[in-house]
Amino acid sequence: MVVIEPSILSADYARFGEQAREVEAAGATILQIDIMDGRFVPNLTFGPGLVSALRRQVKIKLDVHLMILEPEHYFKAFVDAGADRLIIHQETCPHLYESLETICAMGVAAGVTLNPGTPAEKISQVLGLVDVVQVMTVNPGFGGQVFLTSQLEKIRQIKRMLDERGLATPIAVDGGIDLETAPLVVAAGATVLISGTSVFDPRATIAQNMAALSAITGS
Ligand code: DX5
Repeated sequence: MVVIEPSILSADYARFGEQAREVEAAGATILQIDIMDGRFVPNLTFGPGLVSALRRQVKIKLDVHLMILEPEHYFKAFVDAGADRLIIHQETCPHLYESLETICAMGVAAGVTLNPGTPAEKISQVLGLVDVVQVMTVNPGFGGQVFLTSQLEKIRQIKRMLDERGLATPIAVDGGIDLETAPLVVAAGATVLISGTSVFDPRATIAQNMAALSAITGS
């Protein structure tokens, strides 16, 4: 079963609450909130305030993707704001194992993600700690970028790593997921498709866009 996880990064910033409710009404079970600090990635987005605002709007899981340096300084703020999961970058956490343990100890789910340039081996020691492994299929920072086909092999490699360990941990993919790339990533082993541009494409409704992505993957 493939999960379509909308990314709020591509929503209408003047209508966050309304669009989050629309995402929930369309059947989404989880919403990704892209936190960017303008240092780890060349873009600046939101803070815990948006998470708490959206927490009051929807009941679905809020999945906070921390594209920030020293994310450990903000774990508590995002958990207190209502995050259900914190996803951290391998590249920002010298003590990745400890950081993931800290998130779990706060009573929320933990996820790990890695940039296109980071080999899968870098997360081999933490696969047993996480609720999801998120493969960046674009260089993080902006929505609407072109999917990096080079990451398909990494998805397959991580799937092998998880299988070897007897782990059923889902693989999520983030960046450039559309009707063309969705079947490719699912065939490689991904079961969670994080999508902003495709889901919030104004040429159709959110529900129609999500249904199209599900259908193209055979879900
Ligand atoms: C990159 C962001 C994007 C966003 C989805 O930093 O993480 O990948 O979530 O972007 P698109 O518009 O490619 O679905």
